[in-house]
Amino acid sequence: MKWQAVKGTHDVLPEQQAAWRQLLAAVELELGRAGARELSTPVFEYSEVFEKSVGESADLVVQKEMYTFEDRGGRRLTLRPEFTAGVLRAFIEHGMHTLPTPVKLWSAGPLFRAENVQRGRYRQFHQVNLEIIGLSQALADAEAIDLLYRTLRACGLTRVRMRVGSVGDPDDRAAYNAYLRRELEPLRARLSEASRERLRLNPMRVLDSKAEQDAAVLEGLKRPIDFLGGAARAHLDEVLERLRDWDVPFEIDPGIVRGLDYYRRTAFEAHYEGIGSQSALGGGGRYDGLIESLGGPPLPAVGWAMGSERVLDAMEQEQAVAAPPDRPVLFLVPLDEDAVNEVAALAVRLRRAHRVEHAYAPRNPGKGLRDADRRGAVYAGLRGASERAGDEVQLKHLGSGEQTRVRVAELERFLQEVS
Ligand code: HAM
Repeated sequence: MKWQAVKGTHDVLPEQQAAWRQLLAAVELELGRAGARELSTPVFEYSEVFEKSVGESADLVVQKEMYTFEDRGGRRLTLRPEFTAGVLRAFIEHGMHTLPTPVKLWSAGPLFRAENVQRGRYRQFHQVNLEIIGLSQALADAEAIDLLYRTLRACGLTRVRMRVGSVGDPDDRAAYNAYLRRELEPLRARLSEASRERLRLNPMRVLDSKAEQDAAVLEGLKRPIDFLGGAARAHLDEVLERLRDWDVPFEIDPGIVRGLDYYRRTAFEAHYEGIGSQSALGGGGRYDGLIESLGGPPLPAVGWAMGSERVLDAMEQEQAVAAPPDRPVLFLVPLDEDAVNEVAALAVRLRRAHRVEHAYAPRNPGKGLRDADRRGAVYAGLRGASERAGDEVQLKHLGSGEQTRVRVAELERFLQEVS
């Protein structure tokens, strides 16, 4: 049996680590400058935490996408499919509502959804998540959107397109859902199976269908934005005004709908062309009422998450990864048995300041140089009987072929000068 990673999961190989680090460095810098602090939560929670928050018509529930299991104590647990629920559970549990308002929390790590796998859609994937808790003003929505845009820019992406809309207040949503039911029930038979199910549970989600047969049916229908009440409309207008003020480029998306049920008013997404059909790099919105429904104080909040794998895919498209050189400055080659321990001791000492590797058994010079070359070393350093006599190392610059002898006592200074 030859084992493979489970479908929809991935290894992050050594050569991919620099890109991940670059992404997280950009996140830490941008979100940190805005006053957000990092929160890490467990990878699993009581199932109820997610069931209560994502909503019963969310895809996660309807399409049974959550990895839920019973542990030995008979507890029902779920691998987190998103951050928001766990972050709010922690916020409530640790009484963070007593902190100065707003509380801005960011998190990063793996999430789990039993989805149909395709490019950009995996079963274990990663998000960077931000929540801004305690503000009901449109200013907070605009700040969240600006921070998503800014963070993606800081990752080196220049072709990000922000889409902003509103799903309205609960009454507006109810009115829109009633309208959709009225319009679509007679046309039920022409809808895809997934859309028929959505029509029953959460009609608004039909708009998110990518099925071709649905497109014709949906054409000409009014959009959620047409059903906004006065308060939600004014809120959206103010969000848009702030974004224009701050030069955040965006498009208004009259039909924006999100896969989770908890959104109120503002909803937004960041899209990117060139990474396949799963083009949403991130998304989020306002979710007033959710904290209270999880047993916390009645605090308003807004937040987003971006999908790290999709962002990395986009960074690759734009060649935005500035990988630091992944190679030793010196590869030491022992030419005889005595030199094995000598080069090892030398490497241990030089590693205080430099990346130095060595062979672990005697090599002839030809093979030693090939070893150094395979590791991409800048210099090979040979050590045998003649070098021992002068307490030296024979250095060869693998790029130019230039050779020089350097005394062991001088080696540290030499490496300092060349690196
Ligand atoms: P979401 O739209 O479900 O929102 O996910 C946010 C982003 O995570 C997506 O835009 C996508 O980039 C990425 N993503 C989602 N599912 C997958 C997957 N299966 N494979 C790869 N990437 C994926 C949320 O999760 C909300 N909790 C965001 C939020 C925070 N709203 C308020 N606060």
